[in-house]
Amino acid sequence: MPRKLYLETFGCQMNVLDSELVLGQLRAQGYESVDHRDQADVIIYNTCSVREHAEQKVWSRLGELRERKAAEPNLVIGVIGCMAERDGTNLFKRHPHVDVLCGPGELDKLPSLVHNAVVTGTGAKGERQIALMGNTSRRSSTLSAAEDTLELLDLSRSISPGDEVTQAYVRITRGCNKFCTYCVVPYTRGPEVHRPPANIIEEVKKLTDAGSKEVTLLGQTINHYHYKHGDGRETSFAELLYQIHEAVPDLPRLRFVTSFPRDFSDQALQAMRDCSRICRYLHVPAQHGSDRVLKLMNRGYTSAQYIDFIDRARGYMPDISIASDFIVGFPTETEVEFQQTVELVKRCRFKNSFIFKYSPRPGTIAIDRFEDDVPEEIKRRRNNELLAVQQQVSAQSNAELVGQTLEVMVEGESKLVSRQARSAYPASQVELKWESRQLTDPSPVETQLVGRTRGDQVVCFQGDLSLKGQLLDVQITSAQNLTLFGKLAEATVSQGK
Ligand code: SAH
Ligand code: SF4
Ligand code: F3S
Repeated sequence: MPRKLYLETFGCQMNVLDSELVLGQLRAQGYESVDHRDQADVIIYNTCSVREHAEQKVWSRLGELRERKAAEPNLVIGVIGCMAERDGTNLFKRHPHVDVLCGPGELDKLPSLVHNAVVTGTGAKGERQIALMGNTSRRSSTLSAAEDTLELLDLSRSISPGDEVTQAYVRITRGCNKFCTYCVVPYTRGPEVHRPPANIIEEVKKLTDAGSKEVTLLGQTINHYHYKHGDGRETSFAELLYQIHEAVPDLPRLRFVTSFPRDFSDQALQAMRDCSRICRYLHVPAQHGSDRVLKLMNRGYTSAQYIDFIDRARGYMPDISIASDFIVGFPTETEVEFQQTVELVKRCRFKNSFIFKYSPRPGTIAIDRFEDDVPEEIKRRRNNELLAVQQQVSAQSNAELVGQTLEVMVEGESKLVSRQARSAYPASQVELKWESRQLTDPSPVETQLVGRTRGDQVVCFQGDLSLKGQLLDVQITSAQNLTLFGKLAEATVSQGK
């Protein structure tokens, strides 16, 4: 009898990709994935630590499982990902019924950890299976040994017929070296490690051969990619883009996230301009509009430098679509400084922004150094104010697209669910806004399709569900805040493209 596995993922695209790879490995070992945790013998949460809210969701899931574990000692419960790494064995104090703990830097070990817990019954005996960067020999082993074993996880990707690969992620860099003062990622994901270009290209090819239409390259500061070959040669991010574009001519869309505003080379912008299948879209978080706050955040640029970069990108590609992230209520943020963030949003005309209230994270520099002194109600007010400004900007930039015909990748029916699948930050304000529109809009949105343009704009239009996964030309007829509405272009309808 195959063991039944339930895996739920929280957090960013890195986690979505890790879950896919881990699931592939566990399936190869005979596990069968199920949609509901009640049917599962093994329950795994792939977790995120970036804000407290993300962790709370997992705490409550684990709390719900306490009684079931008492009644079914053979049930195996695993916590993997960033929360496992950040909390480490402390997690057991609160949730002693967790059997497996595995950080994102050790996921190549997960199949054997789960296997030990299930087959040898260590789960039932209360013996823990643990693999964390801080806890194991990996810290003491050489970085290149760690790279090699982790590389095997990405290389293990197996694509079976029937797998949903239309949109796929490919990692190019792991970890982060930036140490922004508020952020847990450098601690949970470890130092920056770049993957060999040949392996990346191979993976993109494999996915394209299996039917991928859009591949998104992943890295926390993706434009920092540079791979040092054994003979001393280096492959830069720009070179990697050119190489993928040339080596995989059948891939219609190539994207990448997340960009860091500093050190974005002209060559990389030129690659975006020159390669027709690279989407002209950048997600390049600014985080704040005040130079003093940016300094406290250790971001390494001023708002003027950020604006210079945006202008430079638009100089190369006037039609580029740009998204950003902002944190409001960072310690000591004044009203005047908050207004500088508002001004930056207006000045940069972002397609959309993900806006977060500062959340102090254990282990970060900010929690040690600064008191979380902006009251919750002020954080909330600033959050809403910035969101309202961004929505005006989004509405304007969307209105400019009305009348144009844009290529849309059909993702499916326009339901809230399909929005969350592609969002970098689940349950962000963007999704909530979308939900409220649906609830108040009397038109039968369920019968509409939803897709994304090359610039990552959301487009809804009437069509048959069989068009899912296709690239179609859609004429934009109207715009509402974050969503465009359109109809299939004549040529597309008649040619059935
Ligand atoms: N590597 C990306 C961001 C990864 S985290 C970058 O540097 O741009 C995703 C977003 O979460 C960040 O851009 C930031 O806006 C937000 N974030 C990170 N830590 C946070 C914290 N402690 N409180 C609130 N928001 C946070
Ligand atoms: Fe976090 Fe900064 Fe690294 Fe982004 S660049 S992951 S915000 S430390
Ligand atoms: Fe969260 Fe870890 Fe990603 S903290 S945002 S899952 S890198």
